[in-house]
Amino acid sequence: MAQSNTYKYENGRRYQAYKDDGTYLLPHDEPEYLRLNTQHVLLRMCTDGQLALAPLAPDKPIMVLDIGTGTGIWAREFVDEYPQATVVGVDLSLPETDDLPARLEMRTGDLEADWSTFLPDEEKFDYIHARMFCAAIKDPRRMLQQAVKHLKPGGWFEWQELHTRIFCACPDVLDIDKCRHSCYWEAQQKLAAGIAKFGIDLWKGAALQPLFDQGGLYQNHQVVTTTPVGCWPEDKVDKEKGLLRRQVLLQGMESLYMGPLTKGLGMEKAEVDELLEKVRGELRADEARHYLKFHTYYGRKPTPG
Ligand SMILES: C[S@@+](CC[C@H](N)C(=O)[O-])C[C@H]1O[C@@H](n2cnc3c(N)ncnc32)[C@H](O)[C@@H]1O
Repeated sequence: MAQSNTYKYENGRRYQAYKDDGTYLLPHDEPEYLRLNTQHVLLRMCTDGQLALAPLAPDKPIMVLDIGTGTGIWAREFVDEYPQATVVGVDLSLPETDDLPARLEMRTGDLEADWSTFLPDEEKFDYIHARMFCAAIKDPRRMLQQAVKHLKPGGWFEWQELHTRIFCACPDVLDIDKCRHSCYWEAQQKLAAGIAKFGIDLWKGAALQPLFDQGGLYQNHQVVTTTPVGCWPEDKVDKEKGLLRRQVLLQGMESLYMGPLTKGLGMEKAEVDELLEKVRGELRADEARHYLKFHTYYGRKPTPG
């Protein structure tokens, strides 16, 4: 292992202890890594297989920073598919392996702290990538400012987020009403309330555009795609996405909800388990035809003059 992680254990799961203020509420263990890697396959399907939507030159050497790199699966695939790229992945805790590709480096760091603790001021990148990171941080504006500071002129910042709010495509009821009567909706409201206790806005993944517009970037784009949950879509690709999304949710529901609901709202583990079991039942039944939205934002740092 390049750098060693420190851990703590709660409710039968392992959590990182590098940043021990309790604000990162998801585990760092095998089941969570499995969830993230399965989710990666789904998220690539949401971007038509592309790792980046920003228009990067495929043949030019580029320095890339992946913030909140998780299992490092995106970073590994990036070095494979962009042979001219060198990638640095930063996270609170790193994958436990020494087996990294030559052009991939992993660093431990707290991205909510001053980035100079793990990135020298003179270290600049052509492309900075963040994905599924919003629910982890309090201050996305500061995150973007620090990213812009570490971009080269003309460099791109890209941020991909699944908006956690569910939508419902059931044709015989009003979208929002059907959703509001579901246990899935109730669980999501509780998730947002639990995370809010730690100063984090769960819904902001759908509202990052103003940060790009006001944060000194230009050529800003937002691309929104939908991801169904379950096997209800008729279209073959959507059905495949829906099955995968449901699998990720069924697999990862405990990862996502246990910390925020027990630590944020003071619920007992047994209460959370009961609620999540009801949600799993709804997701398997597929009646509500749920879907989620996936947002990709990207923008460019101006070149002086
Ligand atoms: C939901 S995972 C997403 C991982 C990866 N970006 C992906 O899309 O597969 C969020 C990651 O952000 C990391 N993270 C959360 N807060 C962080 C912080 N303050 N500094 C560095 N990494 C952080 C977590 O450890 C976790 O690996």
